[in-house]
Amino acid sequence: MKTVIFTDIEELSIRAAELFYESAVMSIKSSGRFTAALSGGRTPLGLYSILGSGICDSDINWGQVHIFWSDERCVGPDDKDSNYLAAFGMFLSKVLIPDRNIHRMIGEKGPEEGARLYDKELRDFFGDKGIPSFDLIILGIGEDGHTASIFPGSEALHEKRLLAAPVRLMPSMKDRITLTLPVLNNAGNILFLVTGTKKAGIIADIMDDSKRPRHPAGMVRPVNGELSFFLDEAAASQLKQKG
Ligand code: 6PG
Repeated sequence: MKTVIFTDIEELSIRAAELFYESAVMSIKSSGRFTAALSGGRTPLGLYSILGSGICDSDINWGQVHIFWSDERCVGPDDKDSNYLAAFGMFLSKVLIPDRNIHRMIGEKGPEEGARLYDKELRDFFGDKGIPSFDLIILGIGEDGHTASIFPGSEALHEKRLLAAPVRLMPSMKDRITLTLPVLNNAGNILFLVTGTKKAGIIADIMDDSKRPRHPAGMVRPVNGELSFFLDEAAASQLKQKG
């Protein structure tokens, strides 16, 4: 596991974009394609803006890039809460990626049907032999320790069979569709992007490896892949300085 602490979210986003490009070039070279799952939330928006600017993507053939999501709210693609809308508007609409390479979670179908359709989409794309292995999965962490839409105490936390699971939340929150832990943990590269003082407590808790993982984000432990935490100084402010 690698932890990198940046001065601010701008510096973090630039390095995350570089890692995205590096992973894409490497994956395309070795397997002819690059598969990445994007997270929702606000933290990755700077990254998406940089990826959309095309600063250094000249080496990428976007026709060999396939974009998925780690989770989605059960809303339509034009809804302000849609994770797809944010990434499409800032990034995917600005690069030459074919529509068929953008694998949107159909949130407007509701959690159960949306999860069923995405589970099928993943099996159709990756094949039905074993658990899909994304080249890169970008994740955030909520203050309660959730990641993707795997919330503390939720059924999705214990899902071992489905690749995508439905998430029913309180009426005040939108229901969700989420990738499940077996899929997250089978990725080649998992990158957590976490910023802000409000996340300092949960980060300190998750990084305290003397404790059994108690939070969903702490249960993201790639079987074979790389796990990286990109933090800004505020989110890292409660980390014990390792001697
Ligand atoms: C979502 C995300 C979720 C997010 C965290 C952090 O759909 O909301 O996938 O897991 O990454 O809640 O959100 P922020 O980046 O906005 O703090």
